[in-house]
Parts: sequence; C-alpha cells; structure tokens
Amino acid sequence: MSARIRLVGARRSYRRGDEEVHALRGVDLELDAGGLYALTGPSGSGKSTLLLVMAGWEHLDEGVVEVADEADGVGAASSQAPARLHWNQLSVVPQALGLLDDLTVAENVLLPARLGRRSRDAYPANDDHVSSLFESLDIERLRFARGNELSLGEQQRVAVARALVLHPVVVLADEPSTHQDADHGRAVFEALRAAADRGAIVVVASHDPEGLRYADRVLAMSDGELSEIARH
Ligand SMILES: Nc1ncnc2c1ncn2[C@@H]1O[C@H](COP(=O)(O)OP(=O)(O)OP(=O)(O)O)[C@@H](O)[C@H]1O
Ligand SMILES: [Mg+2]
Repeated sequence: MSARIRLVGARRSYRRGDEEVHALRGVDLELDAGGLYALTGPSGSGKSTLLLVMAGWEHLDEGVVEVADEADGVGAASSQAPARLHWNQLSVVPQALGLLDDLTVAENVLLPARLGRRSRDAYPANDDHVSSLFESLDIERLRFARGNELSLGEQQRVAVARALVLHPVVVLADEPSTHQDADHGRAVFEALRAAADRGAIVVVASHDPEGLRYADRVLAMSDGELSEIARH
C-alpha cells in the first residue's frame, strides 16, 4: 500500500501565558508516496508542530489533515477526529528520541515488531532489512548496549532504525541528523531516502544543507507559514 498526506488550511496555536503563539497559520500541502520531503526553517517556525499534526500527536484548531491510504482512501481525518493509518504504518523519529533505557539497542529497534506480534521470535531479528539497518546506521557493534549507554548521536541512529524497521508507509523525522558527524549524517539520510525509494512518504525536518540534497522537494516554514523553495 502507499499513502498520501494532505493538509488544508491547517491552523494550530498554543497559549503561552498571556501570549497566543501561532505555530501553523493556515498550511496547505499535498505529499505523495515515494518522496522525501525536507522541511526547513528557523527555530520556532513550526516544523515540529507540522510533523506532530501529521502524526496525529497534536490536533488542529482549524483545517484538515488527512493521512490516507492511497489505495482505498481510509484514514481520512479532520481537525475534529484525527484518524490515522494503522499504528505500525506510520512512524516518527521524535526530536526527543525516546529510547527505552532498560532495553538493548537491538530490543529498542525491534520494539515495534515485538509490539505487533505475539511470539518474540515471530519477527526475525536478522532478516536482511533489519541487518542492513544495523549496518548502514553503524549500530551493529552496539546491538547489546543499553539505551542509556549510548551517545546522543548513537541514540539518534537507533531511533531512526526503530522508525524504519517495519517498512512504514509514512515516516516523520524531526531533525534526525542533528547529533551526527558528516558521515553518520549521510547514513541517516541514505536510510530515509531508501524508505522513500521503497514507496514511503518521508518528511524530514532538517537544517542540514547536506541532507537537503536527498530531498525531492524542499519546503520552508517561516513563522507558521509554509512555502516550497526547491523541487529536484
Ligand atoms: N506546547 C507548546 N506550548 C506553547 N508553545 C509551543 C508549544 N510547542 C511549540 N510552541 C511554540 O510554537 C512555535 C512552533 O514550535 P515548533 O516546535 O513547531 O518549532 P520548530 O520549527 O520545530 O523549532 P525548532 O527548530 O527549534 O525545533 C514556537 O514559537 C514554539 O515556542
Ligand atoms: Mg522542532
């Protein structure tokens, strides 16, 4: 299956004391399957809010967000009732990475697989896709380390592997290369690019100029407004 994301007039404000912060000021957007979409813009411009709205982790005040299966159109959502794809079809690399400290790297990566299945060995830990994620993201040698024994960059690459392990049709990654050196940053973008090439919609908030080269479209947030700045 493949997915489609559509936002129409998406508005979201936050209250902060007496102030009303307009994180999204009427965003219109359509994203098709098989693309990597970069989302740039200054700190505080609304990138994370936009990703969280797509994920269904934040609601809209006004407007529509649809994250739908292109094939049968299920999963249509509005600001009233944000429906989503099945949980294992949409994955997020959150800005706060959220690894479980008591689990090993391998257990963290395979957690989505474990959650969806009854038997602990129903999902082969060594299938080609899983092995290639461990290799390409350079976390193979950390397989048995615990979440709290990793550098921030390592934790981030584990979070990327965890997001990709079940071949999701939508991947929302919030600054997934911020803690990486140049080589590991490229590895992160190559893994995300591979997911898009397999047909996923991949949306990546990023300031990384190197990373933007992997994108099919570069979108820019500015004070809650979205525009397109490049198409490759
Ligand atoms: N829970 C919240 N309560 C109040 N204001 C918020 C909340 N979350 C975000 N904001 C505000 O909404 C605006 C957009 O925030 P958002 O996190 O989407 O920005 P961002 O572009 O992701 O920034 P960064 O690059 O720093 O991650 C900012 O002004 C921020 O202060
Ligand atoms: Mg952010």
